[in-house]
Order: sequence, then structure tokens, then C-alpha cells
Amino acid sequence: MLVTSALPYANGPLHLGHILEGIQADIWARFQRLRGHDCIYLCADDAHGTAIMLSAEAQKQSPEALIEAMRESHLADLQGFGIHFDCYHSTHSNENRYHAERIYRLCQERDHIAERDVVQAYDPQRGLFLADRLIRGDCPRCGASDQYGDHCERCGASYAPAELLRARSTLSGAEPIDKSSRHLFFRLPQFADSLREWVEADHLQAPVAAKLREWLDAGLKEWDISRDAPYFGFEIPDAPGKYFYVWLDAPIGYMASCQRYCDEQGRDFEDYWARETDIELHHFIGKDIINFHGLFWPALLEAAGHRRPSSLHVHGFLGVNGEKMSKSRGNFLLASDYLQRLDSDYLRYYFAARLGAEVEDIDLNLSDFAQRVNADLVGKTVNLASRTARLLERHCQSRTSTTPADVGLIDAFTTAGEIIAGHYEARRYSRAMREIMRLADDANRFIDQHKPWELARATPNDPRLRAQCTTGLELFRLLMLYLKPVVPTLAERSEALLGETLDWAGHERRLGERQLTAFQPLLQRIDADDCAALIQQGG
Ligand code: MSP
Ligand code: ZN
Repeated sequence: MLVTSALPYANGPLHLGHILEGIQADIWARFQRLRGHDCIYLCADDAHGTAIMLSAEAQKQSPEALIEAMRESHLADLQGFGIHFDCYHSTHSNENRYHAERIYRLCQERDHIAERDVVQAYDPQRGLFLADRLIRGDCPRCGASDQYGDHCERCGASYAPAELLRARSTLSGAEPIDKSSRHLFFRLPQFADSLREWVEADHLQAPVAAKLREWLDAGLKEWDISRDAPYFGFEIPDAPGKYFYVWLDAPIGYMASCQRYCDEQGRDFEDYWARETDIELHHFIGKDIINFHGLFWPALLEAAGHRRPSSLHVHGFLGVNGEKMSKSRGNFLLASDYLQRLDSDYLRYYFAARLGAEVEDIDLNLSDFAQRVNADLVGKTVNLASRTARLLERHCQSRTSTTPADVGLIDAFTTAGEIIAGHYEARRYSRAMREIMRLADDANRFIDQHKPWELARATPNDPRLRAQCTTGLELFRLLMLYLKPVVPTLAERSEALLGETLDWAGHERRLGERQLTAFQPLLQRIDADDCAALIQQGG
């Protein structure tokens, strides 16, 4: 399996919305590996485009320096959240140039490229064609001043940039002029039938398929894949001064990352991308980029004779305390700000508890977050280990027993594994978490009923003490195995205590008589002040 998440733009730091996507994909990839599958997870920074060129200019540095610094910052944040990549590359790379040119040439040879002139707004002072968001002026309908080139925020009208009154370039203040230039187009309509067949083949969540059907029914248009210099990107072969549009080489970045990975690991690139392959390709993306991954990308792959994605896994948007994240609301939470204060596993668990297979938006409610993590992870799960392991340490030389007190309960935990696996596989993480916490409740009920601490006080040599604590710890071990894709750091600390590496095949094995490592605290409760400080920082 090859898993990807969308390539973050290299012109700003990551926020918790990006992290949501990384965590969703990482949990899935970790789950697959835990089950013994060969699953790689790849990503990269999306380094091209006008926005990056302009930020570099504004910061008086080269785009190359900017994107390299950003890539390092992105990777540090992602790793901070335990998101593990087999390769994290960049679209501004030799591998990506190679594959973008190769795919473009194949499209040319196969008559999938058209050429024609396009008239666009142009900033004569800056010498730049202007994307809609770089033009502002008065709304042609209600007259509101300083509105975007394509829609009015006051009255909601949408219009063409040419209709704006008193239009100005946001870059120089100059009045845009109309200017014609030659553009290259990918002939998307040629792929309407094969896209339709792909959409109907059950690769997609129902609302995603419905959206794509709607676009297909409305009729596809040829896709403009060229931009004029100056542009930060790859110059198009045999078209001097023309560059690939950032969205042309962005998804090809998945391939570039795979190429890099294959070169490093001595694996075969073709195994992943040949038309006939049994390796699955899974893209995790947000709902705003369905068109690129559901139309252009599969069509490009088809055009170049490659395999198409096995699935798109589309998620909704993250909000904070019931509102959209935005700088003006002061709730724009940066990944690095979170990591300065809180443990990454807290958020991984909370997102897992909120994520289903639907496209719905997700809310990070900070009081619910703290309460949930403290109750589930610390209260129900970690406490199970600390209560039982400490008693074993104090009274049983840290040794577990081959004869636990309740074999039936342990067997029930083992049997539940397949249900939990089914939820992970189908990306119903919230249901997996609910199932696991239901088991945790059973485990805690067992401990509360037997009260091993009372035995420890009265008759510490009673063999039932060791048997009961072994049961509690065995249940903890299984819970931690099931939670391992979600909370890898906590799982690692638990593995150190247990002296084993947990994998799914091991869910039928038992602790037996085992020497435990000296007990170390596994996870602290979330501090409400740290949570509050996070929101104050978000401004
Ligand atoms: N560079 C493109 C993707 C190219 S993929 C070949 C891009 N970058 S992005 O940085 O804007 O977004 C990266 C991913 O983060 C997208 O899947 C996007 O949907 C997701 N999210 C961005 N903001 C988000 C939230 N607030 N919540 C959840 N996901 C969000 O698009
Ligand atoms: Zn208006």
C-alpha cells in the first residue's frame, strides 16, 4: 500500500488543520503496518506558484531558501506529532521535474494538449498576470469598495474580474490592463468516460462520488496548465517563458516522493505506478481539493498510462470551539504552538475519537478535549497500568503470573480485536475508540471489584494478588495494542514497561510469567491552564 496526505504549501507554517489530515493518514498507515502489511506513507512540500514567489520577494530571500526553511519547519512539526513518513520530499526536486516533464511529453504525443490565446488581467507596473485574488476594486452590484476580483464579501455577488469598478492590482496599485498570451491546456474532456467509470467503481465516499458526478454531468472543460514568467516552478519543455501551473506538478509530487523513496530503498518505482499493479494507492485529502484529486489527477495518470488511485479519503475542515480557524478570531492554532505545551498523543487521541469515515467538519473543543483525554487515556487506560504494575513491583518482584484471575475477560478482549480492526480499516476511528473505551470500562470494573490493593494491605503473599494484577496488566496490554496506531509515543513507553514490541499478531499471545521493567509514569493529565494558554497564543 502507498498512502499519501496532501502536500502542504511551502508559504506558511502548519496549523492544526494540516495536522488533522496527517494524523488521520498516519493512523491508517500505522494500523496497516501493525497488521503486518507493507505500507508506506509519503508526502512532500508543495513548493511552486505565485504566492511562494511573492512571499520570498517580500522577505527578500530566494524562493529556494524560503521553501527549504519551510520544508524543515513542516517536517519538524509533523514529526513532533508522531506522523511518520517513509519519505518527505519537495515538488521543487529533480525527481518531480523529471516526472512532470515525462508525463507532459506523453500527453503531448498522445494529443491530450491543446494551445490557444487567453486574455487576462495584467499588472503593467509589476509585469505580472494577475490571479483573481490579486485584484481588488468596487463591487459592480452593490458598490462596496475594496472587494476581491471574483466575489463581493458584502453582497455575495460573484463576477469576472473585468467587471470590477476602479480595479487595482494589490501588488502595485496599478490599474490592470487586458493582455493576451498563449496557454497550454490539458484536454480533460477526452477523459470524461474513463473518469465516470472510475467514479462509479466504488473508490469513493458517497458524497464525494456525487460531487464528481455533478461536475461530470455539467461537462468538463480543458484545463489551463501553463503560467507565464515570472513564476516559481518548472519551465515547460519547448515553451520558453511558460511554466507548469502549480497544480499540474503538485500531485506528480506524490510520484516524485515515491521515486526518491524507491531510489533510497532499492525498490521498484514501476511496482507502484504501472497500470497493472496490485499495490493500493490511497490519498488522504481535505474536501476543498476534491476536483484536483478526483478529476485532473486520475485523468493525468490515465493519459500517461499509469494506474489510478485505489481510493480518495476525504475529510472535512477543523474548527476550534465551534468556529472556523482564523487569525482575526484569534483561534488560529499553529502546530508548533501546540507542541510547545502539550503532548502530541493527546491530540492524536482526540482527533481519532472525533474522526469518522464521513466528509464532515470536525471541531476541536478545548474543554471537551481536556476532559476526554483525561478521562479516557489517563483515567481509564494509563491508570490501569499504574495501579497494577506498581502493586506487582512492590509485592511480586515485578513478575506477572502464568495463571491470571479472569481468563474469560482476557479472551473477550482478544475477540474484540477483529471488530476494532474493521473500524480502523474503514476509517471509523471514532467507533474504534468507543469500542476500546468500552473494553477499558470492563477492565476497570474488574479491578474495582477485586480491589487488589486490599489484598496487598492484608495478605500480600496471597497468590491471588499476582493473578489479579496480571489480569489488569494483560487487559492494559491489549488496550495499548489496539490504541498503538493512535498513540505511538504512549505505546512505546508501555512497551518499555512490558518488555515487548506490540503487534497485531501478538494479540493472541499472553504475558505469561514475565519480568516487568521498573515502572515509569506513562502519561500526565492535561493541565487546563496549558489548554487555555494555547487559545491565547492563537491570535
Ligand atoms: N498544496 C495543496 C495540496 C496539493 S496535493 C497534491 C494544498 N495545500 S494546503 O496547505 O492548502 O492544504 C493541505 C491539506 O490540508 C489539504 O488537504 C487541505 O484540505 C487540508 N487543510 C487545510 N486547512 C484545513 C483545515 N482547517 N482543516 C482540515 N484540513 C485542512 O491544498
Ligand atoms: Zn457587492
